[in-house]
Amino acid sequence: MEFDHTAHPNPTSAARLEQILANPGFGTSFADHTAVIDWTAERGWANPRVEPYGPIALDPAASVLHYAQEIFEGMKAYRHDDGGIYTFRPLENARRLNRSAQRMALPELPEELFVASLEELVQTDRDWVPNGDGEALYLRPFMFASEAFLGVRAAREVSYRVIASPAGNYFGGELKPVRIWVTRDYIRAAPGGTGAAKTGGNYAGSLAAQQQATAQGCDQVLFLDPTRENAVEELGGMNVFLVTADNRLITPELTGTILEGITRASVIQLAKDRGMAVEERRVTLDEWGAGIADGSITEAFACGTAAVITPIGELVDGDRSIASAGTGEVTTSIREELLGIQTGTVEDRHGWMHQLA
Ligand code: PLP
Ligand code: COI
Repeated sequence: MEFDHTAHPNPTSAARLEQILANPGFGTSFADHTAVIDWTAERGWANPRVEPYGPIALDPAASVLHYAQEIFEGMKAYRHDDGGIYTFRPLENARRLNRSAQRMALPELPEELFVASLEELVQTDRDWVPNGDGEALYLRPFMFASEAFLGVRAAREVSYRVIASPAGNYFGGELKPVRIWVTRDYIRAAPGGTGAAKTGGNYAGSLAAQQQATAQGCDQVLFLDPTRENAVEELGGMNVFLVTADNRLITPELTGTILEGITRASVIQLAKDRGMAVEERRVTLDEWGAGIADGSITEAFACGTAAVITPIGELVDGDRSIASAGTGEVTTSIREELLGIQTGTVEDRHGWMHQLA
């Protein structure tokens, strides 16, 4: 399928773009274009195009507004020294989008169309890719039920889009260890639910807990599974790893209630490449606290596309505080290796990078 292109009639000025790229923040400014593909049950995917970024006209009865039939992905495009623009493991995002689509009764998008949509958008808006340390163009593919129909069934009209947003550190400012609020009031997902799908409702459901976290001076929420002895699940938007004094990595296993992070899978691979033992298993909050107390757990970090790898400095659990080691050596070294691969300064021995433009 060929993409049609319409140039933005009123593109961002060079001076304004320079200002945005000087201090990108996260998710606040958007590139001039959006890639769009329409789907109907009758004719499937059609009409791929790149059009000016702007408001979407949506019928007030569009079922996404009522029943939240929506999925999304998050990835980044990096400018390399060879002048090319690359992204990280896009087929993994394509596959996860399609697993989310199955769960949310949305149509699957052919992987090559997914990748082409990223290429077309980034080729059009390549000037929007920042090149500062730790900066990238965040790509947000998403799919939603646009059919105007209030009955509860899978929509027969769906829209897929990609928007792009220059991104620096997700937590703002320089990289520093984050404080995490342990929520005892809310869970994120349950067996048979939608926890493994990247769907908006999971994030809407996390916001009340996130508000509590913010009120406690914390950056993110940690969700537990109280039905499994307070097994650690994940943060609102990131997976979690613990580092042990004897050089093992521990991360919660994939049980269907957490998101299968692509950063998570990549960290596991990089750790194994270094000869570290990686344990994907149930890890409880008690084990975490006891491990910090007796020194057997030396570091903890959060990982995801937006956060890359961010050290966890402190867990706040009601009145109790569990301090981690701050920015430990293993966290720093894995972060540098992963970022190096993504930004083109470390050899890409697994063939993870894909040139978009
Ligand atoms: N967990 C949640 C809930 C997320 O939203 C994300 C972000 O995408 C992740 C984990 C990390 O996934 P990835 O590494 O694929 O970005
Ligand atoms: C990501 O890392 O891409 C995420 O989706 C996390 C958050 C911004 C939702």
